This record gives sequence, C-alpha cells and structure tokens, in this order.
Amino acid sequence: MMIASRILLVISCFFVSVLAQNHTGTLFNFAPGLGACGFTNTSTQIVGSVSSSFFNSFPGATDNPNKNPICKKSLFITSGGKNITAAIVDFFVADAPENVGLSPTAFKTFAPLSDGIVPNVTWSVV
Ligand SMILES: *[C@@H]1O[C@H](CO)[C@@H](O)[C@H](O)[C@H]1NC(C)=O
Ligand SMILES: *[C@@H]1O[C@H](CO)[C@@H](O)[C@H](O)[C@H]1NC(C)=O
Ligand SMILES: *[C@@H]1O[C@H](CO)[C@@H](O)[C@H](O)[C@H]1NC(C)=O
Ligand SMILES: *[C@@H]1O[C@H](CO)[C@@H](O)[C@H](O)[C@H]1NC(C)=O
Repeated sequence: MMIASRILLVISCFFVSVLAQNHTGTLFNFAPGLGACGFTNTSTQIVGSVSSSFFNSFPGATDNPNKNPICKKSLFITSGGKNITAAIVDFFVADAPENVGLSPTAFKTFAPLSDGIVPNVTWSVV
C-alpha cells in the first residue's frame, strides 16, 4: 500500500513537472506535411514539432504515435518578448532533444525565414 501510493505520487509529480517545465533550445522552421500525430498540415498553419526523444517520453506515449497525448497539446514558445502557441503535430529526429520546430508562418513571429534558426528560445508544453 505504502509503496503503491509512493509510486503514484512520483508518477503524478513527474506528469505535472513535464507539463509545467520550461525548456531552452534552438528554434528552427520545418515544412509540415503528414506528421507523426497523423494529421496533414501545411506551412501556413500554426503548428510545431518536438524531438523524437521528447515525443516518445511524453507521459502516455505508446508504440502508436497517432495516439500520443502530446498530439492534443501545444508548444508555447517565447523569445525576445514575443510568443506563440502552436499545436504539436510531429517530431523530428535529431541529437538535440531540447530543440523545437515551427511551421514557416509561425517561425516568422520571431525572425525572418532566412535566419534559419533562433537560438535560446524558451518553450513549454501547454
Ligand atoms: C516559464 O517561462 C515563462 C516565459 O518566459 C514565464 O512566464 C514562466 O514564469 C516560466 N515558468 C516557470 C515555471 O519557470
Ligand atoms: C492540422 O491538420 C489537421 C487535419 O489533418 C487539422 O484538423 C488541424 O486543425 C490542423 N492544425 C492546425 C493548427 O491547423
Ligand atoms: C504573449 O504575447 C502577447 C501579445 O504580444 C502578450 O499580450 C502576452 O502577454 C504574451 N504572453 C506571455 C505569457 O508572455
Ligand atoms: C544561449 O544560452 C547559452 C547558455 O545560457 C549561452 O551560453 C549562449 O551564449 C546563448 N546564445 C545566444 C545566441 O544567446
């Protein structure tokens, strides 16, 4: 009983901390299409992607990426006093688990597309 409730407490704290936590990473722009969540999105929609490791370790993730609870969540990204909230629709495979991607329309909130990246953006899952 004691052990079971301690495990539950640890699991629920983990869940809360994953959702509330701020991350810092490099923002890049990506071309949406048929993504890991099973949606087909376009470059003019406000959509985002996270790393495969973040996606696959999100609480509730299973072998079926379409059913990942993160697909019902959004990325809240802030940088230089600006912010955007973009639906999470995909993951990317990279060795930088804290980076995030935004569709071109959403990326332009922070920088011209020709910049390619925006370093050190703050992001969380909301
Ligand atoms: C996360 O970052 C946002 C935006 O910079 C800030 O408003 C918020 O207080 C931070 N939250 C935590 C838990 O640090
Ligand atoms: C992404 O595409 C799906 C259809 O596959 C659509 O329902 C959803 O609204 C799109 N997301 C955004 C933010 O436009
Ligand atoms: C996000 O940006 C909007 C528009 O500039 C601003 O009103 C809002 O306070 C910002 N939110 C946060 C949490 O920074
Ligand atoms: C990004 O943050 C790191 C660690 O805080 C810092 O060393 C680096 O200079 C920052 N880069 C930019 C471009 O702000």
